[in-house]
Amino acid sequence: MDEYEKAFKESIENPEKFWGSAAEQIEWYDKWDKVLESSDKPFYRWFKGGRINTCYNAIDRHVEEGRGDQNALIYDSPVTDTIEKFTYSELKERVSKTAGFLRQLGVNKGDTVIIYMPMIPEALIGMMACARIGAVHSVVFGGFAAKELAIRIDDAKPELILTASCGIERTKVIEYKPLLNKAMNIAEHAPKKVVIKRRPEHEVTLEGEREFDWEELEKEAEPAECVELDANDPLYILYTSGTTGKPKGVVRDNGGHAVALRWSMEHIYGIDPGDVYWAASDVGWVVGHSYIVYAPLLTGATTIMYEGKPVGTPDAGQFWRVIEEHKVKVLFTAPTAIRAVKRVDPEGKFIQKYDLSHFETLFLAGERTDPDTYYWAEDLLKVPVIDHWWQTETGWAIVSNFRGLTQYPVKPGSATKAVPGWDVRILDPITGEELTPGEHGVIAVKLPLPPGTFITLWKNEEGFKEEYMTEYPGYYFTGDGGYIDEDGYIFVMGRVDDIINVAGHRLSTGSMEEAVAKHPDVAECAVLGVEDQLKGEVPIGFLVLKSGVERSHDEIISDVIGMVRNEVGPIASFKKAIVVDRLPKTRSGKILRGTIRDIADGKEYKMPSTIEDPEVLGEMEEAVKKIGYGE
Ligand code: COA
Ligand code: AMP
Repeated sequence: MDEYEKAFKESIENPEKFWGSAAEQIEWYDKWDKVLESSDKPFYRWFKGGRINTCYNAIDRHVEEGRGDQNALIYDSPVTDTIEKFTYSELKERVSKTAGFLRQLGVNKGDTVIIYMPMIPEALIGMMACARIGAVHSVVFGGFAAKELAIRIDDAKPELILTASCGIERTKVIEYKPLLNKAMNIAEHAPKKVVIKRRPEHEVTLEGEREFDWEELEKEAEPAECVELDANDPLYILYTSGTTGKPKGVVRDNGGHAVALRWSMEHIYGIDPGDVYWAASDVGWVVGHSYIVYAPLLTGATTIMYEGKPVGTPDAGQFWRVIEEHKVKVLFTAPTAIRAVKRVDPEGKFIQKYDLSHFETLFLAGERTDPDTYYWAEDLLKVPVIDHWWQTETGWAIVSNFRGLTQYPVKPGSATKAVPGWDVRILDPITGEELTPGEHGVIAVKLPLPPGTFITLWKNEEGFKEEYMTEYPGYYFTGDGGYIDEDGYIFVMGRVDDIINVAGHRLSTGSMEEAVAKHPDVAECAVLGVEDQLKGEVPIGFLVLKSGVERSHDEIISDVIGMVRNEVGPIASFKKAIVVDRLPKTRSGKILRGTIRDIADGKEYKMPSTIEDPEVLGEMEEAVKKIGYGE
């Protein structure tokens, strides 16, 4: 057995021993009573009874162990022409003072704090400050519209919001205050306090008693010490798209999360204390939580926070510049980012300009790595390119290749093998029976899940059970489909529900349909994801108008595009829609989204046996051609 096989076998056959020994890497105030508590299935609890503080493990402990002068965080922002470095000691100072002002403003253990911030150091500092005092943060991605922010405010009911005066998208300054004010007006549970990091790129004046200046508060604050927490106390909530318009609040705990992330850095990414690690994502997504903020700091590595894009800020060489300048060992990004670079610089001329001698591995996730992107990156970068599969719910990788265990030959299109701890199975979607190698089905994970995954949905235990644990009893239903081949390689082929991945961002077509359906002229609509060369998938809309509508189709389409931008956000990239006479449906009235998608992607499709009227498919073929699809 190789190293991976040994680790995998032990993790499945004796998970308590495996994770109990991984937990030795973390500092505990008190060790757990039980490594795994399984008495309340499907609510498994890791390290029950253990006492811990995540911020202590991510910052203070490294200062105490002699890493105080090492860089903890490098903020690299080509859009503001800034590079700023924070040692572990400096970060400790900033985080404990931020935690201090949160306390003074009335934030206590167990309270929630919404963080609506761009990619600036204060986002990470705010998250760590919450962790320090046991407050539960919920970061909301800056590209979401006010309504999405309001939905999250109402679900999390925060004591306070941390925000900034603006974000910067390429050359555009995105003002946060108008968005936030709009969200606070829509929300029923708007908090009474907002702390604003005022950036020089956009000055704001503070209004009323509600708004506070971050810098002033931090200057005056008494530093706060780490609070002892239960291993299963919540660390954060992160909302992610479900199949309906209402996002799901994934809850992560402290103990299992710290153990799993620390283990993953060494064994998946091959990162040791002192190494430089860069996840080019955004703190608003799970990749940002786990691999910009928590995992690198829990490891005593240096993390990079990059405020820019892979291309256009200002050029397609920025990834390679950052790698050279900060001696990055591992870069983790989404395939769409590599496709964006490849499109501008197909021959990799920028790559030649930089010294990538410290660079050892490129990790990709967020969507399947298509073979073209894989070969391009591998040929030009000359380092292993590793696709790995995971989800907001899981918090870290389910399937990967391993820089710190056994590194297997890559089969392009596969994310390689199940990570230790993850008992991945392919099930027949109808019967739930396990399928044999090569057979396609839904991907499920036999319970218990390893530490570090979601322990429930925020204030919604029923939803946790119903959405993930009920359809295939004894298994976590991932929502993805795929197969495992004879060699144990896992191929993740895409979602089996109405979630789409646009430029590595997970979005619900349901929430876009909700926005479109509000248009007074729209009787019915379908929004679905179609293949896109750059973003992987983009949404397109099909609109059926109410009878007697006389406005021009172009006007209505432009309205609904604006409505999705306003209600869901620009990140949805909803740019195309078409008016049709009717939508293909089953006899029971269900819209045949899968068939429309196949038609739009120009794929061969089977005539669904339950279709109400087959002729409508011919109409759809013509419709998609009009907006440039179906070929
Ligand atoms: N705040 C406000 N607006 C934002 C935003 C933010 N944080 N992030 C994106 N947007 C806006 C963009 O400005 C754009 O607006 P526009 O329609 O006015 O142009 C829109 O949302 C779509 O953004 P994006 O998907 O980023 O498209 P893009 O064309 O600007 O860039 C890529 C394309 C591929 C370069 C970019 O999507 C990318 O870098 N993707 C990597 C994704 C990633 O890291 N995913 C995390 C998983 S690992
Ligand atoms: P998110 O919760 O935003 O991380 O999105 C998770 C979803 O993205 C998964 O359910 C998959 O559909 C998709 N995904 C992420 N990484 C991969 C990958 N490496 N291969 C295939 N799909 C992926």
